[in-house]
Amino acid sequence: MSDLSQRAQAMSESVTMAVTAKAAQLRAAGKAVIGFGAGEPDFATPDHIVAAAEAACRDPKAHHYGPAAGMPALRASVAATVPAMNAEPTQVVVTNGAKQAVYQACSVLLDPGDEALIPAPYWVTYPEAVKLAGATPVAVPHGPDLKVTPATLEEYRTDKTKMLIFASPSNPTGVVYEAEEIAAIGRWAAEHGVWVLSDEIYEHLTYGGVEAVSMAAAAPEVLDYYVHVNGVSKTYAMTGWRVGWLIAPPAVAKAASSLQSHLSSNVANVSQMAALAALEGGLETAHVMREAFDRRRLRMVSMLRSTAGVQLVEPQGAFYAFPDVTELMEKKGISSSLDLATLLLDEIEVAAVPGDAFGAPGFLRFSFALSDENLEEGLTRLQEWAG
Ligand SMILES: Cc1ncc(COP(=O)(O)O)c(C=O)c1O
Repeated sequence: MSDLSQRAQAMSESVTMAVTAKAAQLRAAGKAVIGFGAGEPDFATPDHIVAAAEAACRDPKAHHYGPAAGMPALRASVAATVPAMNAEPTQVVVTNGAKQAVYQACSVLLDPGDEALIPAPYWVTYPEAVKLAGATPVAVPHGPDLKVTPATLEEYRTDKTKMLIFASPSNPTGVVYEAEEIAAIGRWAAEHGVWVLSDEIYEHLTYGGVEAVSMAAAAPEVLDYYVHVNGVSKTYAMTGWRVGWLIAPPAVAKAASSLQSHLSSNVANVSQMAALAALEGGLETAHVMREAFDRRRLRMVSMLRSTAGVQLVEPQGAFYAFPDVTELMEKKGISSSLDLATLLLDEIEVAAVPGDAFGAPGFLRFSFALSDENLEEGLTRLQEWAG
């Protein structure tokens, strides 16, 4: 019998670990592995943000504990990012990345016995955060466009359904829902008293004229039962600074803040000052990064679509393509995308993330947050291998 708690035992081991560990092993042995696994921008944090952090380092005020829920100036700036919520700064909790915001929202809203609907394919952390709260994650299958509809959500709703975890743009698919689609999902949630946790971390990374619409703006009827999650990681190339946040109705924000006060206290002040500079500094640098991502996205879409046995819904946001590789698997006599990912590493030294990790067997995730040259080289190897 394990001494680990039931909660710890219920946590799934990452399906991607085997592939990631193997890629690292091959690299250490001097192999030219091309990694399509990155979940973060391959750019440095913009200079003006780093300069604000440098100044904060020298300010003794930043050397001490601060309010658990974040610096007042940052909370005010964050509150203003979602005009449709009309939120007070006290409704904002600044967290160690959006990841901790997801965890805390689940912990203060879900009880054992509750169910949380999670449209598949989903970001790997959602089901784990639900399970850590003692509740049950329920994956909702996608249509051919990799989206879910109110009709499918309704099929999976029970009297135990307390929450829907929604993300647009999506990791791993890059899919961006249209305003009417989000409005319909929000109306469905409001009608049934289901809380919506909307993770909008890729909000500013959209392409080809597509705009990400916030759940708060598209479906104002959800606002009494709504937790908004976002952060600086992806928009400002700040994954290592660990700043995210949630914005929620006052009682939820207060509970999340209390939880954080016992769990981790305030996010590092220097990082908070950097995040404030990011939000106040506008989106110019994000748009420069977005141009590079868009160029790579178009190349990736065209190369994957001309790869034998691969079907792709065009990603319009984030920095991932999520092709259906079932035909390729059949052709090669492989039964799982994990096996396919392992074979790609062994035979052509290309690392992609198997869809099993995201609740979508038969798919692979390719990040386009890598150099143009590596993208070209890696996908050429894949094309030749696929035949
Ligand atoms: C959909 C989604 N939400 C949240 C996060 C976490 O971001 P953070 O670095 O702010 O914790 C990620 C990171 O990969 C993500 O893909």
